[in-house]
Amino acid sequence: MSWVSLIFHQHYQFDMAFNKREKIKDLLSGDFLDTQVSIMGWVRTKRSNKNVSFIAMNDGSTIKNFQVVADPNQIDDDVLKKCTTGACLKITGKVVASQGAGQQAELLAASIEILGEADPEKYPLQPKKHSLEFLREIAHLRVRTNTFGAVFRVRHALAYAVHKYFNDKGFFYIHTPIITASDAEGAGETFKVTTLDLKNPPLDEAGKIDYKQDFFERETNLTVSGQLEGELAAMGLADIYTFGPTFRAENSNTTRHLAEFWMIEPEMAFYDAEDNQDLAEDFLKYVISYALENCMDDLEFLDKRAEEEESTKKADQRSEMGLIERLKFVVENKFERLTYTEAIDILRNSNPNKKKKFQYLIEGWGADLQSEHERFLVEKHFKKPVILTDYPKDIKAFYMRQNEDGKTVAAMDILFPGIGEIVGGSQREERLDKLTKRMEEMDIPAEEMWWYLDTRRFGSTPHAGFGLGFERMVLFVTGMGNIRDVIAFPRTPGHAEF
Ligand code: 4AD
Ligand code: MG
Repeated sequence: MSWVSLIFHQHYQFDMAFNKREKIKDLLSGDFLDTQVSIMGWVRTKRSNKNVSFIAMNDGSTIKNFQVVADPNQIDDDVLKKCTTGACLKITGKVVASQGAGQQAELLAASIEILGEADPEKYPLQPKKHSLEFLREIAHLRVRTNTFGAVFRVRHALAYAVHKYFNDKGFFYIHTPIITASDAEGAGETFKVTTLDLKNPPLDEAGKIDYKQDFFERETNLTVSGQLEGELAAMGLADIYTFGPTFRAENSNTTRHLAEFWMIEPEMAFYDAEDNQDLAEDFLKYVISYALENCMDDLEFLDKRAEEEESTKKADQRSEMGLIERLKFVVENKFERLTYTEAIDILRNSNPNKKKKFQYLIEGWGADLQSEHERFLVEKHFKKPVILTDYPKDIKAFYMRQNEDGKTVAAMDILFPGIGEIVGGSQREERLDKLTKRMEEMDIPAEEMWWYLDTRRFGSTPHAGFGLGFERMVLFVTGMGNIRDVIAFPRTPGHAEF
């Protein structure tokens, strides 16, 4: 069908004012009582008897369904038969005060137009409880469920709150590149970007792939972090943030890792490590408060969902607070701040370490913390969010500012209950000599990073920043248990469907 005939076809099928509809969210406010409106949305359920059909409609604007009352004398039997779960309808009628309990208003259908049928024999989503695992396999349809509708509305609100927070504070949003030639975190877990023929790549004299013949005339990858470019921008705009997709080819099949995730990275000139911690704590609390103030319907639903899920767990693994209670607790209480060295002492003397319950036992200073350790500190020991600072330099990235002790760097990780690490950041090494020496020790080629080092050559200043894993924040606020359920189309090892 051509473009023109497609448009004609649509106008032919539906009248000109097709788009005129009210959102269910607005109808529920009660302002539309006794007026004639059209709604469009998807059937969640239909109950019928001889005299009347009740159709629960959802249009995505709110978790709440809107009840439509259809009189078989008014609506064709053929049409009513097609109003099955999943079908898409346009319904016109009068909004009246509801007879039944539970909602204020309902719609008396004067006409129903079937926009898209859903064969009940074949439609995979039925009005029963499906497992999250099953819904992940039909991620193209799961957005039509209460749970995923709620998750994605909350996700949207959180993203908006991120921009609002920084905008209101005078930060500038910088779009850093997605294709880069560097590996900021130095973990070597990058996805390569190339247009070379993988079956027959050009080779150089040494027999290695000759990237000079590749699209960018060098080896490139998808970015693991926008930080390095963010630092460049902060050295002129002072307060900036990035909010973009990042990619890591780490083979971690956990409930906390994605291969493609979104990260928020503020970077501030003239900030030291403590300023950085203060900003991060204030920012996290703001974003969570925003959700509490603007997403209560969805959070109440998610709270109940989480409670049901918790009740299937063993008593010692259940969280002590409900979802909304936990969100309020985080907003209202000061985060615990302590150094890595202090944390190691606590962990070494902890019960699970002495009784060899940790999978990775803490033997001494220098060990990297695993998520079991982070969660012990947050959930069992302090019972609140924790900011851990001053990690050993050997387990952190090259760019972190070296402390006077020669052993630690001005790093910070923020650990959240049920999540573990949610933020990673640091004050940056602004001293050229110390930075180049550290890069040498870590085999990072200084020539390739000439542009980064230039910021330390010209007008260098103390500065700091951090990265918030956006999906981990959505996970925390929605109380979902698996990071694959808070991004629309998750990318994990072995999974790139949709
Ligand atoms: O701690 P990370 O690796 O820090 C950085 O990338 C710094 N460049 C940030 C900065 O200082 N500007 O990652 C930051 C956060 C983690 O704390 C975690 O929340 C999230 O990103 N994260 C992931 N989220 C989902 N899936 C993964 N594979 C993640 N890896 C990190
Ligand atoms: Mg980290």
